[in-house]
Amino acid sequence: MNVTLRQMKVFESVARNLSYTRAASELFLTQPAVSMQIRQLERQLGVSLFERVGKRVHLTEAGKEVYQYSRSIAQTLDEMETLLADLKGLGSGRLRISVASTANYLVPSLLAEFHRHYPGITVSLDVTNRESLIGQLRDNTVDIVIMGQPPAGLDVDARAFMENPLVVVAPPDHPLAREKNVPLERLREEVFLVREPGSGTRIAMERFFAERGIQLKTGMEVGSNEAIKQSVQAGLGLGLLSRATIEQELALKRLTVLWIAEFPIMRHWYIMHRHGKRLSAAADAFKRFLLQDAGRPPAPA
Ligand code: PGA
Repeated sequence: MNVTLRQMKVFESVARNLSYTRAASELFLTQPAVSMQIRQLERQLGVSLFERVGKRVHLTEAGKEVYQYSRSIAQTLDEMETLLADLKGLGSGRLRISVASTANYLVPSLLAEFHRHYPGITVSLDVTNRESLIGQLRDNTVDIVIMGQPPAGLDVDARAFMENPLVVVAPPDHPLAREKNVPLERLREEVFLVREPGSGTRIAMERFFAERGIQLKTGMEVGSNEAIKQSVQAGLGLGLLSRATIEQELALKRLTVLWIAEFPIMRHWYIMHRHGKRLSAAADAFKRFLLQDAGRPPAPA
């Protein structure tokens, strides 16, 4: 049997994603190159690994068995890479970090600061939704995840490192923009734009109002913070957003934060990884950096 590591790596990605297209983009290959590697692997092994039902790709029984081996090969290679990087110290190494879409507004500046301390460490940053973050934690394909609430039912080490206030935003000419301490009940008269299901911001918003017995009028469902901001500016309704997402719009006076009783909803950002995961030196350094230094004002020069 003449199976190559490359074939196993390509197979692992197609099997995990159940998609040739997603595997191709993950591995920076073309789709025909991915198909060719899989065909060669099937020929070497003498079995079919995938079957197509309509447009969907499924693993065959043999494919499921080979997937277990490909996962353990990938994990072993990862461990080897981590160990060697640790032997070389923090002058090199790789940090794979995945963050929730809202966290994308604060993480790049934190990474820039981290990079100033550890210029030799290569960072790969994935910005994705909460559901996919939970999948990455479950499959142990990422070093560090940053999101707004640790997932229930998954054994993770989660530490809060920064406050994440959620605020009600409106266009600056909104009638409530001039009022102070607006009672929560008054929000029943407004229309709210909401994020997509699965968004941490949306879950927090729904929980907050449900606990207070307030049923909001919800308007459009909008799939990103950017689109919510544009829609609020266009007068389609009020938005409930993490304060971190609106710095620029506040500075440019395109949006304003309403003063509502009991607001902001105070959440936190969490850094997390699978419980018991052996963190690489790079991931460990990033975790320590976040917990000790992040969010502090820089020391005076
Ligand atoms: P989001 O927020 O999913 O609404 O982008 C991040 C989170 O709260 O986990």
